Amino acid sequence: MTDQPAIELVGIDKKFGAVHANKNINLTVAKGSIHGIIGENGAGKSTLMSILYGFYQADSGEIRINGKPVNIKDSQTAINAGIGMVHQHFMLVENFTVLENIMLGAEGGALLAKGVASARAELKRLETDYGLDVDPDAVIEELAVGLQQRVEILKAMYRGAEILILDEPTGVLTPSEADHLFKILGVLRDQGKTVILITHKLREIMAITDTVSVMRRGEMVATRKTKETSVEELAELMVGRRVLLRVEKGEASPGDVVLSVRNLTVKDNRGVTMVDNVSFDVRAGEIVGIAGVAGNGQSELLEALSGIRQPSSGEILIDGQPIGRASPARLRELGLAHIPEDRHHMGLVLKFEEYENAVLGYHRDPKYGRGFMLDLDAMQADATEKIEKYDIRPPNPRLKTANFSGGNQQKIVVAREIERDPRILLIGQPTRGVDIGAIEFIHRRIIDMRDQGKALLLVSVELDEIRALSDRILVMFAGHIVGEKTAEAGEQTLGLMMAGIAA
Ligand SMILES: Nc1ncnc2c1ncn2[C@@H]1O[C@H](COP(=O)(O)OP(=O)(O)OP(=O)(O)O)[C@@H](O)[C@H]1O
Ligand SMILES: [Mg+2]
Repeated sequence: MTDQPAIELVGIDKKFGAVHANKNINLTVAKGSIHGIIGENGAGKSTLMSILYGFYQADSGEIRINGKPVNIKDSQTAINAGIGMVHQHFMLVENFTVLENIMLGAEGGALLAKGVASARAELKRLETDYGLDVDPDAVIEELAVGLQQRVEILKAMYRGAEILILDEPTGVLTPSEADHLFKILGVLRDQGKTVILITHKLREIMAITDTVSVMRRGEMVATRKTKETSVEELAELMVGRRVLLRVEKGEASPGDVVLSVRNLTVKDNRGVTMVDNVSFDVRAGEIVGIAGVAGNGQSELLEALSGIRQPSSGEILIDGQPIGRASPARLRELGLAHIPEDRHHMGLVLKFEEYENAVLGYHRDPKYGRGFMLDLDAMQADATEKIEKYDIRPPNPRLKTANFSGGNQQKIVVAREIERDPRILLIGQPTRGVDIGAIEFIHRRIIDMRDQGKALLLVSVELDEIRALSDRILVMFAGHIVGEKTAEAGEQTLGLMMAGIAA
């Protein structure tokens, strides 16, 4: 690694109105290394990488690639300079094949110039060189998320990327998909490529990066060799204080059964049975966790419980009363709240201002006005209170929701549902994309709710999160509850059950 650094960012500065997203950032990334970038929600990580990829323009500063200053005025310039980016929300054409997606938009009209046959050969080479195997003729929408992501990587490599940026790539992956991704990144590095990885998972930083840089409130505050730092030091550098990496909770004292599920069967949109004859109870004052690899029916279960999806048979009862075909609004009246797994599809309207999302679904509450007359002042005051309590940044209820960083958007949803003070809370992936300080806070709030006697059902693909919070763990595999355990069962036992191997 004696030659020029792959990337040098010098004095990069960027403001969005009053928000100073990047303050005079300097960053050097060595060629042939994996460089992690961490930082709290809203610290400016995605903004910085979007500048490098030509999606935003810096207000000032310089970008050098291999020692040469470049003016990256758009993404095409970035691609020409050998930079590829894998976005968190993939940018693939869903009903095209892998091959079509990879050829699409490649420089110089690859379709005509190279022809399909040579594209196929090139794809084959990339597959063998980097372990990036996918079926070139598979249609994107039929591929698992992990494979779709692999197509994004292939697409970047096909366009000749020497530098690959990944923004929170593992948020949507199963643990084994994440392992596979890291193997691929390791191979890329060994072949001399440069990788920049943004993640909130410090375990991932420790496992695969060579160097890690920490951002805080728009500034680059530290860079460390990964070998010479620790999870504790990184957590403190990020947040500016010590962070409890494990939540503390006392014994649960469960009361009456509040939510029951009896022989519930739920199909997905294609008519495939995803939840198969499932029964369980959730009592007041306990957290029941559903552990499972993504795609084993947890999503459909949550959708049925929250009234978004009609079950095909079986019953859901609240306080012993069947809810029938109650709408989400009716369920909210019965004291049920829901943090949906996917904030973009179900939790938020991105073009609304923050305060509108802060009351979404609850705007009929008399506290926000009567009839059609909404009391905007009351709504904004309420939103401001949640912003303070949950440290949502920037603290501006009038900002368009799309302009909040990913983790802050998640906090908007979590705050809305928890502060509603429901009797029953359905929680789907509560800390996806959220930084460690905020995770600590959200976990604390969830445990407080339990201690106040609420009934909580938690679905998470993070086994650590399930183990840290749940009083009882139900393991879901292929639509069935295959067993009940507590956190004492240990990662390995639970992992085997999640894989359908042991009960
Ligand atoms: N297009 C935009 N308009 C206005 N403000 C923006 C825009 N994009 C980002 N911001 C603001 O810039 C700041 C940095 O956001 P950024 O998305 O870079 O954070 P991040 O470090 O990636 O956070 P997270 O971990 O939550 O993804 C935030 O305060 C955000 O609200
Ligand atoms: Mg981000």
